Amino acid sequence: MDITAQHTRKSPFHVTTLVPMLLLLMTTPVCLSKTILRTRGFGVANVREKAMNKNYGTLSSEFVTKFYTQTLDHFNYRPESYSTFQQRYVVNFNYWGGPNTSSPIFVYTGDEAAITVAVSAAGFMLNLASRFNGLLLYVEHRYYGDSMPFGSAEEAFKNASTLGFFSTTQALADYAQLITDLKKNLSAESCAVIAIGGSYGGMLASWFRLKYPHVVVGALASSAPILYFDDITPQNAYGVIVTKDFRETSESCYDTVRQSWSEIDRVAAEKGGLQKLNTLFSSCRL
Ligand SMILES: *[C@@H]1O[C@H](CO)[C@@H](O)[C@H](O)[C@H]1NC(C)=O
Ligand SMILES: *[C@@H]1O[C@H](CO)[C@@H](O)[C@H](O)[C@H]1NC(C)=O
Ligand SMILES: *[C@@H]1O[C@H](CO)[C@@H](O)[C@H](O)[C@H]1NC(C)=O
Repeated sequence: MDITAQHTRKSPFHVTTLVPMLLLLMTTPVCLSKTILRTRGFGVANVREKAMNKNYGTLSSEFVTKFYTQTLDHFNYRPESYSTFQQRYVVNFNYWGGPNTSSPIFVYTGDEAAITVAVSAAGFMLNLASRFNGLLLYVEHRYYGDSMPFGSAEEAFKNASTLGFFSTTQALADYAQLITDLKKNLSAESCAVIAIGGSYGGMLASWFRLKYPHVVVGALASSAPILYFDDITPQNAYGVIVTKDFRETSESCYDTVRQSWSEIDRVAAEKGGLQKLNTLFSSCRL
């Protein structure tokens, strides 16, 4: 593995300057960045479809794809817990200062899609790498893309026995183990790790910092509904914020969208109304 620094600019990364900023970001419960406003469904119905989305985009040659033999079950000693699967990760050494510098490692905590999606979409990571001589690491979430336990998506999604290992808790443990192992391989034990993610990936980044503070010194969560759970955040909080965004931009747009809901309900209740809406909006399903 070539770990030679191509950028030898002397600007060592100071954890102390970036961390307060990151922690500040972490404390914002629902951080809806207008530039990266992503509206992703959390429904399980989408999961399988997204999981199959293996080859989104072609990565440029500075990104190197690797596989790590990952533990299937991090939390007990049953025989099947010793099974492993191949977890995909992508690295970019182009900007890295090297193991014996204070250059950081920026880790994208993979979310509910093939990791190639994040590599292509999170251009901000490249800015960070270039500014701080950072190593970029993107780790794919288990059960997505090419990181399928049990050999294939068909097997992995088969039933409760195979799906039982599909959890956020296991995913965070995957990240901790892989990062620790990679740092050892690169003799980069002293390099600070910053987790970064968007949406569900941002929730993972912040939880990763909370749960594995010895592995990661900071986290940046973009558009992440970190506290969007029953009895913590009002259920309509997302709608309220999106409404506010629209309203700030245009009062008439806000009014029009708001009135459209009752109009949609009215048409839907008519005979053949759903079909009409289906045609009008080119929706996939009724
Ligand atoms: C980093 O430091 C270690 C221990 O001092 C040394 O063995 C290793 O060769 C150094 N690596 C590089 C790339 O300079
Ligand atoms: C899932 O499928 C496997 C293999 O067909 C079977 O051994 C296992 O009992 C099934 N588990 C459940 C919960 O149905
Ligand atoms: C670290 O090196 C070992 C031995 O070559 C390898 O099996 C393992 O996959 C490497 N870890 C990572 C995260 O690449």
